[in-house]
Amino acid sequence: MLSEKMEKAFNEQINKELFSEYLYRSMVAYFESLSLSGFAKYYHVQADEEHEHAMKIFEYIHTRGGRVVLEAIEKPKTEWNGPLDALKDAYNHEKFITGSIHSLVDLAIELKDHASNQFLQWYVEEQVEEEENAVNLIDKLEMIGESKNSLYLFDRDMGKRTK
Ligand code: FEO
Repeated sequence: MLSEKMEKAFNEQINKELFSEYLYRSMVAYFESLSLSGFAKYYHVQADEEHEHAMKIFEYIHTRGGRVVLEAIEKPKTEWNGPLDALKDAYNHEKFITGSIHSLVDLAIELKDHASNQFLQWYVEEQVEEEENAVNLIDKLEMIGESKNSLYLFDRDMGKRTK
């Protein structure tokens, strides 16, 4: 059985993952407005992934006899100062999520909840990947600079993401 403290913390994490989905979905709309359909596709896939992150915790809470309580999802940003600004926001957001996951691990250790600690290790690894991906995209876009041709090709590559 999940402790009340752990249950509350997991419920808060569900909200953060759903917000992540919302934020990336908002980026999709932004990129579509710039006719960057590859970027839009990339963040659609990313948003789907965030939904899975939320649902995985949703199921876990039930598996441990807990109760899922859904709260309101904050309104995400809708405008950015260009693609690089949006990508930097995505990276900052992932760093925030990493911190949140680490706090959950700390709590699981404090409460001697070994099952939750083990469950969370998947997220710890996932966040390493999430941050690495976000940084790689920023590096590439910075390399491109003002070149419209390169941005066109990069957008085409971004659109190849399927998972
Ligand atoms: Fe679910 Fe991108 O962290």
